[in-house]
Amino acid sequence: MNFNVLTIFPEIFDIFESGVISKALANKNFSLNCLNIRDHAINKHGQIDAKPYGGGEGMVMMAEPLKKSLDDIPKKELGHVIYLSPQGSKLNQSKVITLSKMESLTLICGRYEGVDQRFIDKYVDEEISIGDFILSGGEYAAICLIDSIVRNIPGTIGNKESVTNDTFSNGLLKGSVYTRPENFEDLDVPEVLLSGNHAKIEDWKMTNSLIQTHLRRPDLLNDVKLTNKQRKLLEELTSKDIL
Ligand SMILES: C[S@@+](CC[C@H](N)C(=O)[O-])C[C@H]1O[C@@H](n2cnc3c(N)ncnc32)[C@H](O)[C@@H]1O
Repeated sequence: MNFNVLTIFPEIFDIFESGVISKALANKNFSLNCLNIRDHAINKHGQIDAKPYGGGEGMVMMAEPLKKSLDDIPKKELGHVIYLSPQGSKLNQSKVITLSKMESLTLICGRYEGVDQRFIDKYVDEEISIGDFILSGGEYAAICLIDSIVRNIPGTIGNKESVTNDTFSNGLLKGSVYTRPENFEDLDVPEVLLSGNHAKIEDWKMTNSLIQTHLRRPDLLNDVKLTNKQRKLLEELTSKDIL
């Protein structure tokens, strides 16, 4: 999979020199092509933005430097063009999975007050927001998007199950996890996790996942298709007022 990124701060993407994603990059599980929009500035001062028509605060990124940056990418490597924007549709795991199946994505990182609407209308396939809050630049949103997609490219995460068992992958929160030592400041690891009884451990994990989802993100339960066992368990827990 290839990502093209249009940005005025390509160095921000050096972040992918660390962690599991850096290994995926080194192993060529994906490639990253950062283009500096300022290479197509309209003057020798590096200008890529201008005051908004109609007045108002801040500056707006001009269409022309963005379009010329897009032209630097061979047509067949352009793929789906995404503008990271708080006004886009909100990213979720199912969207991430869909995008992870694409060959190429081109990500436009806005700054200032955003991007001239005409560039969006003409060259952007989709606007994606990473949440209902405002970032100072689309780079941070693009990093989240790339990271979440690359995790799902086969070969990135050593243990495939850690992706398929992640929170949201089955519509629920994953639930609590524990590691050594068995006792930390008078708090014990739940005994069942030390029992070696795999069936019981799986049951505990499922129960814990349902409880955590019910308590923290009950909205998720409206969309998820629970198994009969999960539904019964949830009914039991709620009817007994355990939750
Ligand atoms: C300061 S923001 C501009 C916000 C704009 N004034 C508005 O109110 O919609 C600058 C850039 O950061 C990016 N950005 C900000 N919040 C974002 C979010 N929640 N998701 C994705 N990108 C975001 C966009 O690329 C945006 O063009």
